[in-house]
Amino acid sequence: MSDIALNQAPAHVRHGSNIGQPLTRRDGVLKVTGAATYAADNCLPGMLYGVLAVSSIARGRVVSLDIEAAKAHPGVVEVMTQANRPALAQDPDAKTNPFMFRIDLLQSDRVRYANQPIAVVIAETLEAATEGAALLSPRYEVETARTGLDSAGSFVPPAVGIGSPAELYHGDVEAGLSEAEQRLEVTYSTPAQYHNAMEPHAIVAAWDGDKLVVDTPSQGLAIAQGRLAGLFGTPPENIMIRSPFLGGGFGSKGLISGPQILGVLAARLLGQPVKLVLRREQMYGPVGHRAPTRQTLRLGTASDGALTAIHHHTRTTSSTFDDFFEPASDVSHTLYASPAIATTYDAVRLDTGTPLFMRAPGEATGSVALESAIDEMAQACGMDPLAFRLKNYAETEPMTGKPFSSKALRECYRQGAERFGWSTRPLSPREMRDNDGLLVGWGMGTATFPALMFQAEARAVVRRNGSGVVEIGAHDMGQGAWTALAQIAADALGLNMDEIEFISGRSDLPNAGIAGGSAHTATAGMAIHNAGAAVIAKLADLAAGDEGSPLYGSGNAGVVARGGKLFRRDDDSRSESYSAILERAGLDQVEGSGSAAADPKAQDTYAMHAHGAVFAEVKVDPELGQIRATRLVGAFAAGRIINPRMVRSQYFGGMIWGVSFALHEHAAVDRRTGRVMNANLGEYHVPVSADIPSLEAFLVEEHDPHVNALGIKGVGEIGITGTAGAIANAVWHATGVRVRNFPITLDNLMR
Ligand code: MOS
Repeated sequence: MSDIALNQAPAHVRHGSNIGQPLTRRDGVLKVTGAATYAADNCLPGMLYGVLAVSSIARGRVVSLDIEAAKAHPGVVEVMTQANRPALAQDPDAKTNPFMFRIDLLQSDRVRYANQPIAVVIAETLEAATEGAALLSPRYEVETARTGLDSAGSFVPPAVGIGSPAELYHGDVEAGLSEAEQRLEVTYSTPAQYHNAMEPHAIVAAWDGDKLVVDTPSQGLAIAQGRLAGLFGTPPENIMIRSPFLGGGFGSKGLISGPQILGVLAARLLGQPVKLVLRREQMYGPVGHRAPTRQTLRLGTASDGALTAIHHHTRTTSSTFDDFFEPASDVSHTLYASPAIATTYDAVRLDTGTPLFMRAPGEATGSVALESAIDEMAQACGMDPLAFRLKNYAETEPMTGKPFSSKALRECYRQGAERFGWSTRPLSPREMRDNDGLLVGWGMGTATFPALMFQAEARAVVRRNGSGVVEIGAHDMGQGAWTALAQIAADALGLNMDEIEFISGRSDLPNAGIAGGSAHTATAGMAIHNAGAAVIAKLADLAAGDEGSPLYGSGNAGVVARGGKLFRRDDDSRSESYSAILERAGLDQVEGSGSAAADPKAQDTYAMHAHGAVFAEVKVDPELGQIRATRLVGAFAAGRIINPRMVRSQYFGGMIWGVSFALHEHAAVDRRTGRVMNANLGEYHVPVSADIPSLEAFLVEEHDPHVNALGIKGVGEIGITGTAGAIANAVWHATGVRVRNFPITLDNLMR
C-alpha cells in the first residue's frame, strides 16, 4: 500500500460534524468527582516524601546546614545536598538551546535567588520531611541583593522572548514625532508577577534500574523527557512521564523545573520512589515568573488623528545567570498603523529566579501599556477612543508590510461596542455616576495574539470493528484539550466521539510539541487531522482500487469520510463502511501517522494573528478609591472554533487574568533582601468570582484560509490582552486620574 502525499488545502479536509459542537468536557465528571488523578495524588509502595529546603537569602553562599539535626528527626531517612546528590551526565548550568534554562540542582553552594533549593529532606512521611527541613538551620554568607528596575549595568538583551530582535525599526520615528501635531511621551510600569497555577509543581518519581517513571504535570512532555534524558544520561525511551491532568500551568510547566528534577534525584539517591510537592511559597523563585517592566511610549499624531510615530521602549529584568526578556514592546509591531515604528529594549540583571513565559508573555505586559497610551493619545486628540482605534488600527502588518492572513478586528470593534452600549459614552471623565454615587467609567482595549504553530506528530488507527484510535502526547492544562482534540480526532477519522479512543498525556506517545503560545489546538490538532487523513486515504485507496467496492474507480480524492463510511464525493448513494473495506481486504486495521508544522511559505506571505476588542465598565468609590470591574464584554475572532463552549471559557479566563493584571497581581519584592514578601495566595491577589460580576465573551466569525488547513488560531492567551488596558482606561474615565503603575490600587488613585 502506497503512502499518500497529503495536501493540506481545504478541499481535502474530510472532516465531519464534531468540530464546532459545544460539547462539555469529557473529563468534567472525573474532575468534579475527584476521580481525576493529578501528579501529587499518586502513591507508590515504599514511597518516601521529599521536602525542599530553600534559601532565605537572594545572594551569597550556604556556609552550613545542620544535617545531623535533620537526620536525627524521627522518620527522616536522608538529606540530599551538594555533598551526596547523585552525579548528573550534564551540567544543570549547560545551555545548548534557548529552551534549556539553567536550573538549580544542588550543583553549588552559591545562592542566586531567594527560595532557591539548597537541600532536599527525604522522610517516611510528609510531616517528618517538613520538620526535618526546618531543622537544617542554614547559615549563609550574605551578599547585597540586586533588586529593582534601576539596578546598575543596563544592557541591550541579545534577544527578547523566544529569539525576537531587541531593536527593530520601521521608518523614521524621530521624523514622525517632529512632524506630529500632537506628541505624547508616557511611562508605565508593571510589577513582577507569579504564575500561581492552582496545582503546585509536583512529582512522583520511581526508578527501576536505569528506567524512570514519573508522574508530573507538564505542558511539554517531549521537551521534559529530553531534558531528563540529557541530565541523567539515559535514552529518552527509558523515561516515561505521565501527565494526564494539570491544575493550570500558565507557562510555568512548559519546561520541567529544577524542583521536579530534584524529586527524580532523591528517588535515585535512595533507590525508592519519592514524592515531592512544592509548597505555595516555594513557587516564588525556582519555577519562573513574569519579569517587571517599565515601558515608555512615544506617540505622534497628525492633525486628523492619524499616528505618525510609535516608539515602544521596554526596560525589563532577567536573572544573573540566564536569559529571558519579557518581549513587551513587540505588541507594537502589529496593532496600529504608523509610517514609523520602533521597538527597543534594555535590561538589568537581578538576584532573582530566571523569568519565564507567563500568560501572554510580552503581549499582556506590552498591550496594557500600548492600550493605555493609545487611550491617552485619543484623549489628547479630543477623539473617542473607539473612533481613534478605528482610524489607526493596521490593515496590513505595519512592521513587515505583510497582509494579515485574515483579520476581523473591525467586526470585533463593531459587535463589542454595540453589545456594550459604547455609543452613549461621554467623552470626558467623571461624568457618569450610578445610583449609589459611585463614579462609573467605560474603557476599551484592542486584543491581539499571534497565531502560532509548533511541530507535532500523531498516530491514528481504524479497526475492523469500525472503531478508531488516536494517539498523541498532548497536554490538558484545564483548557479543554482532551475535548477539543478528541473532536478533531473524531472528525479526522469520520467517526463519532464515542467510536474513538483518544489517548494522550504521556511521553511515550507521538510528540505534541508544547502546550504554549496558544498554539496547542492548531499544532496538535493539525497533526491529528493529518494522521486521520492518512488513515482515510489508505481506506479510500483500498476501496477505490477494488472492483468489489461500490466506490471502485472513485479515485482517492473523490471520496469523503463520514459516520464510519466512505462516500463518493459526487454521489452520496455510493458508500461503503470501514468495516466492510477492511473485511474484504483481510486487514485487522489500518494505521496512519501525521505531522504538523507551520507552513513557511504562508508565514512568509502573511501576518497571522487572532484579534479582539474588549470593553469594560468600572465603578470607583469617590471617597475611598475602591475599584470594581463591574462589566466586561469581549468580542474575539480566532479562526475556526473547535468547541465554542470551551473557547468561551478560555476567553473568560483570559479576561479575568486581564482584570487581575490591571487591578490585583503584584509580587512585592523587598528591596533590601530580594525576597517576595507576599509569597502566598492570601496576599498575592488574584480575582475571585465576586470581583467580576458580569463577564461576556462572544465569538466573531472568521475564516482564515492560511493559518492551517483547519483554520485554527489560538484562543488561550488573547483574552488577557486588551482587557488589562480596557480596565485601566475605564478607571481613568471614571476618575480622571491616569494611573501608570500597575496594578491600579486605591492608594494610587487617592494620591
Ligand atoms: Mo503559555 S505562557 O505560552 O504556557
